[in-house]
Amino acid sequence: MVGLIAYNLLTFGVIEHPGKTVYISHCADCHGNSGEGVRQLIPPLLNADIAIEKFDSIPCWIKNGMNGELIVNGVTYNQPMYPIKLNDVQTANVMSYIAKEFLKTDKQIKSEQVRELQKQCRE
Ligand code: HEC
Repeated sequence: MVGLIAYNLLTFGVIEHPGKTVYISHCADCHGNSGEGVRQLIPPLLNADIAIEKFDSIPCWIKNGMNGELIVNGVTYNQPMYPIKLNDVQTANVMSYIAKEFLKTDKQIKSEQVRELQKQCRE
C-alpha cells in the first residue's frame, strides 16, 4: 500500500524521482537536462537506440567509462566518457530515471543487479 502510494506520487510527479538528483549532478553537464546531448560531441539519451538495446551495459559504462566510435540513432560519436563514481544504489536510481524519462521504457533495475552486472565488466 505504501509502495503503491509512493509509486503514484512518483508517476504524477508529486515527488521527485530519486534518480533525478543523481542525473542532474553527474550526467546532465554532458548529456543535457533533457537528455538531448550536445551536437556531434555527446550523444543524446533521449530515445537513444543503443541505451535501450544495451541497457544492461550501462552499469559498466558508468563504472569504467566509454571510449571509441559509437553510433547512436544513426549519428557517429567519438569522445570519451570518463568513469563516474556512483554507488550501486545511485546507479540503479539514475538508470531507472533515464529509462522512464528518456528511453520511455518501463525497464527497472535494482542495486543488486547493478552489482552483479559490474562484476562482469571488461576492465
Ligand atoms: C564528460 C561528459 C559525460 C558525462 C559526465 C556522462 N557522459 Fe555518458 N557519454 C558521454 C560520451 C562522450 C559518450 C559517447 C562515448 C563514445 O563515443 O564512446 C557517452 C555515452 C553514454 C551512453 C551510451 C550512448 C547513448 O547515448 O545512449 C550512455 C547510456 C551514457 N553515456 C549514460 C551516462 C550516464 C547515466 C551518466 C551519468 C551517470 C553519463 N553518461 C555521464 C559523455 C558523458
